[in-house]
Amino acid sequence: MCEHPYTVLVTGGAGFIGSHACIALQEAGHHVVIYDNLSTSHPLVIERIGEITGRVPIFVQGDIQDRARLEATLAACHCNAVMHFAGLKSVSESVDQPLTYYENNVMGSLVLLQAMASIGVRTLVFSSSATVYGIPQELPLKEDHPLSATTPYGRTKIIVEEMLREHFNTCPDWRIAILRYFNPVGAHESGLIGEDPQGKPNNLMPLISQVASGKRPHLNVWGNDYPTPDGTGIRDYIHVLDLVQGHVSALNHLNDPQCIEVNLGTGRGHSVLEMVRAFERISGQTIPLERAPRRDGDVSSCYADPQRALDLLDWRAQRDIDEMCRDAWNWQVSNPYGYSKKDEHSVAQLLAGEACAPDSLVEFITPERASSPLGFQSV
Ligand code: NAD
Ligand code: UFG
Repeated sequence: MCEHPYTVLVTGGAGFIGSHACIALQEAGHHVVIYDNLSTSHPLVIERIGEITGRVPIFVQGDIQDRARLEATLAACHCNAVMHFAGLKSVSESVDQPLTYYENNVMGSLVLLQAMASIGVRTLVFSSSATVYGIPQELPLKEDHPLSATTPYGRTKIIVEEMLREHFNTCPDWRIAILRYFNPVGAHESGLIGEDPQGKPNNLMPLISQVASGKRPHLNVWGNDYPTPDGTGIRDYIHVLDLVQGHVSALNHLNDPQCIEVNLGTGRGHSVLEMVRAFERISGQTIPLERAPRRDGDVSSCYADPQRALDLLDWRAQRDIDEMCRDAWNWQVSNPYGYSKKDEHSVAQLLAGEACAPDSLVEFITPERASSPLGFQSV
């Protein structure tokens, strides 16, 4: 337990990483106020956090671009720190809708900073990304590697980082930690919370999970001619529970005014094929693969130098890829439809001859299914 508990406003606290961070914060003795517009997440996660920690966090549904609501929340809940996870994160979507990304990620962060300044909250942990390093010129990636962006998503992270550094230059009493994540994967070991992507996932691990569970026929391996031992791309996968522990360490470190950038990675790279083989071993499922051309914008290898995190935050990742795969698989098996598809799940059970709640299910019965032996009417 920490000596000086914070009351932390967790923007994006209903999302994949934010929800795990809420648990780590509560377990460390801090108080949590989730602020989320639920644009890419589900309210059930709040209840699940309560199930895991025994304490349901305060939840405020709001947008980070709503300054008045942010200020009211910060003041009413007596927040004295912010962890800022809220944002859109799809690289490909950012290429199609750059203005949406600048508005949500950049404008949203600007409004959040203004709200914090006006209420006098000066402690901030910000979710940045290894994508700010662009094409690695040298590996492992150190925090002083030059920054560049190949996509609008990456540029939003660089712009917010720059904004934070410039703000700190004029307000040196702030305490800011910019955390650059490598590839967060896995889930809470309870299987109660995890990654629940909207629509088709972009990232490797949710796709592997969905192939292993039979939701997709195969995994496309994007490129097998990279200059790596097996020809497939190498990344620094980090268990989300390690990642969020890094946030708690960063918060504890922010006793004095400072603005720091810190990598959160393991320092070890694994190829696509290594991840697939580990997942097959852990899940006992076969993952059919198909060769596909390189994905636009992908780099060959990307992994962190985690030394600064160790020196400054006294933090290092503990979990290996087997634990990442085990927890991702446990989440997938326990929640085959993620958070929101409970009723569809019931339909599936029903159509498989299991129990029944006809009234609540009618709207999910499609015309094809209406002719099932259960005899529901289509709507
Ligand atoms: P996520 O989509 O699961 O969670 C983001 C949360 O923010 C969601 O709950 C969403 O509803 C909320 N949100 C989005 N826009 C909002 C707004 N305007 N106002 C209020 N709430 C809003 O994503 P995640 O994987 O948990 O990522 C969290 C942060 O970490 C993001 O900033 C992302 O860019 C960054 N990051 C993620 C990864 C990754 O691979 N997951 C890697 C590097 C950095
Ligand atoms: N991959 C496949 N097939 C797929 C999906 C991915 O072969 O169907 C490969 C990619 O080519 C890459 C590796 O799996 O070699 C990892 O790809 P991800 O999409 O999971 O992750 P990225 O490293 O491309 O990007 C992720 C986040 C970014 C973030 C970056 C930080 O999506 O938002 O990590 O390092 F910026």
